[in-house]
Amino acid sequence: MNEKNPIVFVVDDDSSVREAIRSLIRSVGWRVETFGSAQEFLSSRRPNGPGCLVLDVRLPGLSGLDLQGELAAAETQIPIIFITGHGDIPTTVRAMKAGAMEFLTKPFHDQELLNAIEQAIGRSAQRQAPGAKEYSFGEIVGESRALRSLLQQVEIVAATPATVLIQGETGTGKELVARAIHHLSLRRNGPFVQVNCAAIPLGLLESELFGHERGAFTGALAQKVGRFELAHQGTLFLDEVGDIPLELQPKLLRLLQEQEFERLGSTRTVRVDVRLVAATHQDLSQMIADKQFRSDLYFRLKVFPITVPPLRDRLEDLPPLVQHFVNRSTLRMNKRIETIPGEVLEALSRHSWPGNVRELQNFIERAVILSPGRTLRPPLHELRGMAETKDVAERVSGSATTLEEAEREHILEALRETNGLIGGPRGAAERLGVKRTTLLSKMDRLGIPRPARGAANHPSPPDHLLATSGSFAS
Ligand SMILES: Nc1ncnc2c1ncn2[C@@H]1O[C@H](COP(=O)(O)OP(=O)(O)OP(=O)(O)O)[C@@H](O)[C@H]1O
Ligand SMILES: [Mg+2]
Repeated sequence: MNEKNPIVFVVDDDSSVREAIRSLIRSVGWRVETFGSAQEFLSSRRPNGPGCLVLDVRLPGLSGLDLQGELAAAETQIPIIFITGHGDIPTTVRAMKAGAMEFLTKPFHDQELLNAIEQAIGRSAQRQAPGAKEYSFGEIVGESRALRSLLQQVEIVAATPATVLIQGETGTGKELVARAIHHLSLRRNGPFVQVNCAAIPLGLLESELFGHERGAFTGALAQKVGRFELAHQGTLFLDEVGDIPLELQPKLLRLLQEQEFERLGSTRTVRVDVRLVAATHQDLSQMIADKQFRSDLYFRLKVFPITVPPLRDRLEDLPPLVQHFVNRSTLRMNKRIETIPGEVLEALSRHSWPGNVRELQNFIERAVILSPGRTLRPPLHELRGMAETKDVAERVSGSATTLEEAEREHILEALRETNGLIGGPRGAAERLGVKRTTLLSKMDRLGIPRPARGAANHPSPPDHLLATSGSFAS
């Protein structure tokens, strides 16, 4: 395993949760080490390098929060992703100002955990880089004008308490932008709490956001702190805000205006200090026209709107993104890719990328797996809907791209032209400008069979020399 490959530490007392998280993390190629208790983690020898800690809040003995305190006291800088089972975060968390942390409430999607880990690792790698700032846009890759001006807006708005509405097609990087706003803001040491409104069942969203008292409804067996309270002094990222049901919208509006609300089943007003960042891929103005979204809420959210343009409108970002995803996947898979052929980039820039950067990322990951040598050979034929992609694909897979393949082609070509004759003034060695013995040893190394004796007298070259170059390209 590559030492530079980030490592994820998991501390959870439930062995089935631990195993599930372990196999999830391994499936994407990161290194992972699991621990059943905070003590076990503290007494372990841990390698240096980028990484993060996935930590259950509730643990027997030292709790997750105690562990966080211990790490902070020892000045161990590691981003922490807290997993909470019950939404019942003790108030002490909110008083703590101990470094980067994030909360995920069970149940969560695999992808939510992976996203959180990816970002945390990115931050920890940046911190370890020589001369690193606290946070930069390191994880947001791209060079286009559109992206640069977007990042400028992010930097400006991050410093203010303004509510931000991030809009853009699916996979454009809205979540990445939301995290950047938090990490560049004065609240960076407070929690970043994420709620995906589309992923939480309708009936549960209100209690998830605002919390409830015990007995507030059937099944409310214990008191629950909502995510707004959890995000106190931090940032709440309300993802897929277009999916908030109409009947819940007035309560959200009031919260934005007054920064206060009541838990379900309670008359006590809770005041919170939360910065809201919302995102959606839906067209909210169309939803307003369709009476699916309140216009007053829309204007409250849209104090500072940011639109992330689709990838097809900023193709200058494509080459650095491809390079970034190649670097990342090769590191995870312990592979080497040295060449990204120009024709490949050309073909990729002709695809329309409806799934934007996420689609590109998945595609490149697959390409890295499928590439047999050190040249990136993506399955370009899969990019349907693009008439020209296919013939570029054929050209690319038929052309020599590694040094070794180029050499082999060159030799085969010379052998074809000299009818398999190696030595002598009209032989391939002379033509290639090398000694006969050098050519023979090169042929052996490259697996090119030596022509039978007397081949030069044959009217036509042996079969293997007639093979087209394409069949040698892997
Ligand atoms: N500029 C970028 N540089 C590096 N990675 C990026 C960039 N933009 C997006 N990504 C990656 O692409 C994937 C999708 O990004 P993200 O989840 O932020 O998109 P989204 O706009 O929230 O999508 P959706 O609307 O589907 O939720 C993530 O894995 C993210 O890390
Ligand atoms: Mg998203």
